[in-house]
Formats: sequence, structure tokens, C-alpha cells
Amino acid sequence: MIATLKFTTLLLAVVVCRATQDYGYKDVEEPTLGDSQYGSLWPLPQKVQMSTVAFKLSGVSFQIVDAKESSSGASCSLLQNSSFCCLSTDELSVDSPVAVLKAPKVWGALRGRGHGFYKSINRTEIQDFPRFTHRGLLLDSSRHFLPIKVILANLEAMAWNKFNVFHWHIVDDPSFPYMSRTFPQLSQQGAYHPYTHVYTPSDVKMIIEFARLRGIRVVSEFDTPGHTQSWGKGQKDLLTPCYSGASPSGSFGPVNPILNTTYDFMAMFFKEVSTVFPDAYIHLGGDEVDFSCWKSNPDIQKFMAQQGFGTDYSKLESFYIQRLLDIVTTTNKGYMIWQEVIDNGVKLKSNTVVHVWMGNKFEEELQKVTEAGFTTILSAPWYLDYISYGQDWQKYYKVEPLSFNGTDAQKKLVVGGEACLWGEYVDATNLTPRLWPRASAVGERLWSDKDVKDTNDAYSRLIQHRCRMVQ
Ligand SMILES: *[C@@H]1O[C@H](CO)[C@@H](O)[C@H](O)[C@H]1NC(C)=O
Ligand SMILES: *[C@@H]1O[C@H](CO)[C@@H](O)[C@H](O)[C@H]1NC(C)=O
Ligand SMILES: *[C@@H]1O[C@H](CO)[C@@H](O)[C@H](O)[C@H]1NC(C)=O
Ligand SMILES: *[C@@H]1O[C@H](CO)[C@@H](O)[C@H](O)[C@H]1NC(C)=O
Repeated sequence: MIATLKFTTLLLAVVVCRATQDYGYKDVEEPTLGDSQYGSLWPLPQKVQMSTVAFKLSGVSFQIVDAKESSSGASCSLLQNSSFCCLSTDELSVDSPVAVLKAPKVWGALRGRGHGFYKSINRTEIQDFPRFTHRGLLLDSSRHFLPIKVILANLEAMAWNKFNVFHWHIVDDPSFPYMSRTFPQLSQQGAYHPYTHVYTPSDVKMIIEFARLRGIRVVSEFDTPGHTQSWGKGQKDLLTPCYSGASPSGSFGPVNPILNTTYDFMAMFFKEVSTVFPDAYIHLGGDEVDFSCWKSNPDIQKFMAQQGFGTDYSKLESFYIQRLLDIVTTTNKGYMIWQEVIDNGVKLKSNTVVHVWMGNKFEEELQKVTEAGFTTILSAPWYLDYISYGQDWQKYYKVEPLSFNGTDAQKKLVVGGEACLWGEYVDATNLTPRLWPRASAVGERLWSDKDVKDTNDAYSRLIQHRCRMVQ
């Protein structure tokens, strides 16, 4: 593919936007702000060679033209539509007012878009590819409803930072905004508002397509058996009745794992989900199951005895998850699960992706999970909903995902990570500025080479990258 350049690209952005660093007091170490030899590139490509030969660019007639040998063909509208201010990726060379871009797949060509209107570009050669294949971001649309435009804005920001997985934690205890065709009463009863605070089938479709055009997969999460209070409002008998002494207390616990109707419901529900979300994976949650309600319920106690589970309620959890996994397997989807599922000894299909989130000793967890042969993604050090004073992006930036003890084969099983922004204190008014550019630090960690770890250099580039995103 040959691109005739008029204006483009990520190189040499002459964006001047300097923050002053006078906070009055300093309890965090500030990096030094200098100029990066890489200008404003973010995330840093695997290989960049810039020369001092500069070309002037003008914005009038920039276009992307397919090379004769390009397999993308003239009809590749995915690239054409993003060509507006774009260029990228596996191999890019700017040499005279023509830039040559080579990529084995359209997603690669899409990935390294430049964002902005730059006036000059030096003769440059870039070879690029991501270090990790799974570069995700989790947003939570249950604790606070997230308007569609906020989700779209963040998909756009994700693309600028080369994230490629939107992990949509769509429902949870507080609300059920997903509008199900099969069980419309779930959002009717469980959303904050049945019409204004829901994602209709066409909303979901639009978000998935908007993401797809930016090379981003949408992995939906329907977390069970815990985190399901909102499900219970529209689906009778789905949740376990908790007892106070000999009688029901009126409150409900996790999904009721001892009823056949539970599994009938899950089969129909996940059949729908598997068609609505085209991605090959569904995230099934499985975290933080509170056993106290199960323990209080005499029917559950009886079932435990019948099954020979003793008083080990993690066996009951495993019983539920096992059946759920069998159900989801029939939809031909792979699944992702939070780490507790494996910690509790549930038998998993070998292609399960285990999501490590617990901050405590996550290196040991990575070691354990990969030793068991499972593909793994890491979120533990990247809970961006935990905020602190000053430049906490450095803390995310300095993480080395493969620092755990393990063989090369084990390390290969860590396919990437996800930044998580849980929604307790986040809604449309503050989500975007809270998330960016802090998530950009995770973006570079997951994309660039492991030796790219100079925080001073990163700081210089990140400041300019932030300005670019603001623009
Ligand atoms: C680009 O070229 C100019 C001279 O044309 C030079 O001063 C500058 O250092 C070059 N930039 C980089 C990043 O090499
Ligand atoms: C590209 O844009 C054109 C015109 O806006 C639109 O008709 C077409 O569907 C778009 N292609 C893709 C893949 O989005
Ligand atoms: C639940 O299903 C199992 C297996 O299909 C069956 O043996 C059992 O009788 C059913 N229980 C009830 C209460 O219907
Ligand atoms: C790796 O193993 C060494 C030696 O057993 C141990 O000292 C170290 O703490 C381990 N590192 C991690 C991150 O688990």
C-alpha cells in the first residue's frame, strides 16, 4: 500500500503544551521534563529511525492508495475511512512525499494511526508490532450508567493508545442496563431506568461496530454467581433466598446453584449473548462469591450434604461454574474468568483465559496459573479506579508483566493485560479525565518493547500525547 502524504502522522508532532510542575509540595518523585528524541510518539514503536531530512506536508490532498501488490484491495473501506489522519504500523517509511506502509493484516495497517495535523515530517523508518496481543480496558456500566457517547469517546481514546480489547463489564449488583431480547424484564426491572439507562440491541450493535472499525474487540462480561443482585429483580427465583434462623430474611445472595431452572435460564441467556457479541470470548466473571447466604439456606445445606460437599462452599461454587462452563461451551465461545475460579479448583477447559486481578502477590498467581498451562491476562497492578495524588501513571508504567518466576513457555502464556476502571466513583462527568492519560501508561507497557522504561523520556512524550488527545 502506498500512501501519498500530505498531512499525517505520528512522527515529530510539534505540539507544545507544557505543564508547570509547581505543586507547592512534593511527595511523589517527578520525572524530568526534557525533549524526547522520539518527539511525541506514543506508544513507542519497536523500531524507529529518523533522519534530519524533513518534508513539508500540506493537508489538501492526503490520500491512501493501494499498491498493486496489496491484498487489501481498493475496496478496503476500513482503511479508507480511517485514512483521514491515519497511517501505521508494521512497516512504515516516509521517504519523499510518499510513505510506504506494509502490514500483513488490515488490523496492523489500521493500528498505528497518527492523530493530528502536522506540518512537517522527517524521513523516517518504523517497524512496529505489539509486544502483547491482548491490550484491554475494562469499563463498568453497572455501578453508574455510562452514556453511549462516553463509551464511544473512550473507544476512540483506546484506538489512539493502541488498545484492542474493550472489556465491557456491562451488568453487576447495582444495575442491569443490558436489554435482553429473551428476558426483557431483566433491564425493565434491573436498570436504573427502563428506557433511559439501558443499552438496546441497536446500541450494543453500534458500539461493537464503532469498536471494530478501530480494530477493537468487544468482550462482554456477565459476571455470576456473585455480583448479581440486579438480575434478581427481573428474574424470579434466580437468586438464593438468605435465611435468618429458620425463616427467609427477605434478602438474596448469589445465583441459586441448586435449581434446574437456574441452568435453563443461563442456557437461554448465554445463547442470546453469544449471538449479540460476535467476539470469540465471553467473560464469565466468577469473582468474590459471598458464601454466607448459601450457608444460611436450609435447602442449600441439604444439597451440600447430598452432594458430599461437606461444608466446603467453594465446592458448590465449582459445581455451579462447571455447569455454566458446559452451557457456554455449547455456544462455541471461549471464556475468560477471574482468578478465583481457578483458585477454587474448578476444572477448566484448557483454552480458558484466566484474568489475574488480586493485587496481593500477583507474581505468584501468574506463576501458578501459567504453570497449570492457562493463558493469562493481568490487571492486578492496573486498577485505575484507585486514585492518588500526583503522577501515578509512573506506577502503572513501571510494571513488568513478565517479572514472575517461570519458564519461557509460561511467560508466553501471558498474552497481555487490561487496565480497569471500576465504576463506584465514576460516571459520565469524570470518567474520561480520570482514565486518560493514566491508561496510556498501560497502553505503552503492553505495546512497546520491554526495554522501553525510561520514565523521563516517557513523560516528555506522554505530555504531548495528552495534548493530542485533548485536541
Ligand atoms: C528532523 O530534522 C531536523 C532538520 O531538518 C532536525 O533539526 C531534527 O533534529 C530532526 N528530528 C529528529 C527527531 O530527528
Ligand atoms: C466507509 O465510509 C462510507 C461513507 O461514509 C460508508 O458508506 C462505509 O460503510 C464505510 N465503511 C466502513 C467499513 O465503515
Ligand atoms: C434436575 O435435573 C436433574 C438432571 O436433569 C434431574 O435428575 C432432577 O430430577 C431435576 N430436579 C428437579 C427438582 O426437577
Ligand atoms: C522468584 O524466586 C526467587 C527464588 O526462589 C525468590 O527469592 C523470589 O522472591 C521470586 N520472585 C517472585 C517475583 O516471585
